[in-house]
Amino acid sequence: MIEKEKWFNVDAVKAKADELWNAPCIHMRPDALEKYQMFFDEKCQKSKELTDEARTCIPGAVQHNLSINYPFPIAMKKIEDAYFWDVDGNKYVNYLQAGGPTMLGSNDPEIREKVIELLNGDGPITGLFSEYELLLTKEVMKLIPHVEMLRLFASGSEADMAMARLARAYTGKPNIIKHECGYHGWNDTFEYDYGIAGTKESLSVGVPAYYHTHVQAVPSDDIPAMRAQLEENEKTGGTAAVVVEPFGPNGGAMPVHQDYLQQLRDLCDEFGTLLVYDEVITAFRVDIGGAAGFFGVKPDLSVFGKVIMGGYPMAGGVGGRREIVQHFAPPAGADYGKVHVGGTLSANPMCCLAGYYSLKKMQEIDACGKAAEASWKLGEGIQKIFDKYNLPFSVYVQPAIVHIDVTGTFCLRLTEDNLDEFNAKYPERNQALNEFAMGLMAEGIVTLSGRRLYTSSAVTDEVIEETLEKFDRLFSSYVPA
Ligand SMILES: Cc1ncc(COP(=O)(O)O)c(C=O)c1O
Repeated sequence: MIEKEKWFNVDAVKAKADELWNAPCIHMRPDALEKYQMFFDEKCQKSKELTDEARTCIPGAVQHNLSINYPFPIAMKKIEDAYFWDVDGNKYVNYLQAGGPTMLGSNDPEIREKVIELLNGDGPITGLFSEYELLLTKEVMKLIPHVEMLRLFASGSEADMAMARLARAYTGKPNIIKHECGYHGWNDTFEYDYGIAGTKESLSVGVPAYYHTHVQAVPSDDIPAMRAQLEENEKTGGTAAVVVEPFGPNGGAMPVHQDYLQQLRDLCDEFGTLLVYDEVITAFRVDIGGAAGFFGVKPDLSVFGKVIMGGYPMAGGVGGRREIVQHFAPPAGADYGKVHVGGTLSANPMCCLAGYYSLKKMQEIDACGKAAEASWKLGEGIQKIFDKYNLPFSVYVQPAIVHIDVTGTFCLRLTEDNLDEFNAKYPERNQALNEFAMGLMAEGIVTLSGRRLYTSSAVTDEVIEETLEKFDRLFSSYVPA
């Protein structure tokens, strides 16, 4: 049984982040850095050749935002159960889970067989209705009861974009409030104040400012700030939706207090605003019933992605109250009073089948419970290593998600007052993170950018033990010689 309270010491997490940011940046010892660098030079030659060539025709050499690119990206070949193998034959423990979607471990044989059967028989894509979209929809509705209707999309980014359009159409109000630092995909609406709180439009390169005329970012976990913004928005036609990642912005890296969602719910009801959970990461990961199952607070709409299709393409969806979701256009598109959405490959039979059978199997084997248990064990083990080597780094856990902060940048909030300090400190912190991520890869641990570990039901006690040995070696490299 997960001890929720253990994680919800949000104040301790934030205090630790402040401490880390205010202390000098901690680097790995140069001899260790050299050793890890040698792994890339000596053991990753095919990866180097492939990515050198890719650099000539693919911007940055890789198509994936989550690749570890320092000193160069590794070309992966095979993925199975809890492991990766690269093109040079090196083996890695998988804590990326393709960015979150795979809860049964990678390439689960039962789901694969179902997909192969479909490919050999009926075929992967029709562009028309298939029974699998119905089966998947009904399964999602069973698991997350506030989903009374569901529209599927090709990605989380698309689903977030569609959700914003739907919320505005349904409420007739123009404004959307998000959290500072929150990520809701790379669509123009939400490409605003993400990654680091307070960045506002500074990372929205190429997005015209008018996209954000009616989008505001407020600090997370701050009810007075949310109320003030809702009140302000009343002057410009009101707020269609408050959109949040329910465990906190940036995949929960900047956590929120446990009672925050209920307070948001009350505030949204007071202002006639929809409460939306962006559950692209959390649905069917932190809890088979998503954040509403975990916290017991229902939103009006939920945005899905990742796990909903069991790791098969394409994964996105918007679900929630019938009276809202029914405003999406019917497939024939002839009803011009409705909210128009599309997607050639959305809800294809292959992904819907994979999503349906994955959700079924996840319930049968309690995949969320197993992955959560693994995350607690990992978190505790990593904290013990920090204590052993007297390292001030931070580790905290949400079910099936482990956050590790070695640079103190997770809970930063940029303001006019600290911008100079941030600009002065950030490049060194970024380099320290690159070095840490490189050390992890060289030890054989694939993470999300050296900042996050996603677990799955394939992460057994043996896998954890193996991982902690690797972490121990890596963190011993931070102890002065
Ligand atoms: C909370 C959240 N919303 C939306 C997205 C975008 O999803 P996708 O990458 O499928 O477009 C992501 C992606 O990581 C996410 O974490």
